[in-house]
Amino acid sequence: MKQQPIGLFDSGIGGTSIWKEVVKLLPYEKTIYLADSKNAPYGEKSSEEIIALSIKNTDFLISQGCKLIIIACNTATTNAIDYLRSHYNIPFIGIEPAIKPAALQSKTGAIGILATKGTLTSKLFEKTANEYTKNITKIEQDGEGLVPLIEEGKLNSIELYQLLNKYLKPMLRFNIDHLVLGCTHYPYLIPQIQDILGEQVKIIDSGEAVAKQTKAILEKQDISNTSTSIANHQLYINSNKTVLEQILKDTPAKFTISELDF
Ligand code: DGL
Repeated sequence: MKQQPIGLFDSGIGGTSIWKEVVKLLPYEKTIYLADSKNAPYGEKSSEEIIALSIKNTDFLISQGCKLIIIACNTATTNAIDYLRSHYNIPFIGIEPAIKPAALQSKTGAIGILATKGTLTSKLFEKTANEYTKNITKIEQDGEGLVPLIEEGKLNSIELYQLLNKYLKPMLRFNIDHLVLGCTHYPYLIPQIQDILGEQVKIIDSGEAVAKQTKAILEKQDISNTSTSIANHQLYINSNKTVLEQILKDTPAKFTISELDF
């Protein structure tokens, strides 16, 4: 069990923002990453569809022998993690928008949240948001259209800048001092976002917290890999792999990317 890989899945390439943090913190853990790009974006689908896709992804990772699964997608976590935890017998780690640290650290009392419609309308998101933002003004914004552009590798396109401007500029009128990135694709847009919001707004994402949580769960369950050689990683994608190769080109980890008919 200890030598088995950690599985991760996302609706596409965005969850690699989490994967990078995991392989950095846990260099001896092998991982298998599944990018379900063919079905992106999940954020525009119904809860039932998101659950069905999450089951399919989970079954694939389990068939590859994964000992633990990280749902590297806020939309899949907020819609499907309860279902997955109650139907499978392995640990799941999920990702939710980091509202709590943003609300606790905010000095202006206003925070922005950029996430998919699927996340913003989920019950889990509503519960967390209500719990931590009682005296905080929270500006929620659906990032519709951003995920497809990122999947196409159009990170510096005019369309993407126009969408970001449309979504983020109004938040400045509310004097937000934190922006929570509630989608694992969005960390790839941090330079562009910071450019629009200015340095006074702190951008918060969940990658490092998820890696730490993974380490804690592996230790608690006594399933950490005992190997002392740097792990190899396997990434699968069910569409063309060019953009994925491009966004990982400076990643120091040892990995292989394969296209998969899935
Ligand atoms: N990376 C997914 C997330 O964190 C993107 C969702 C989508 O495909 O719309 O929510």
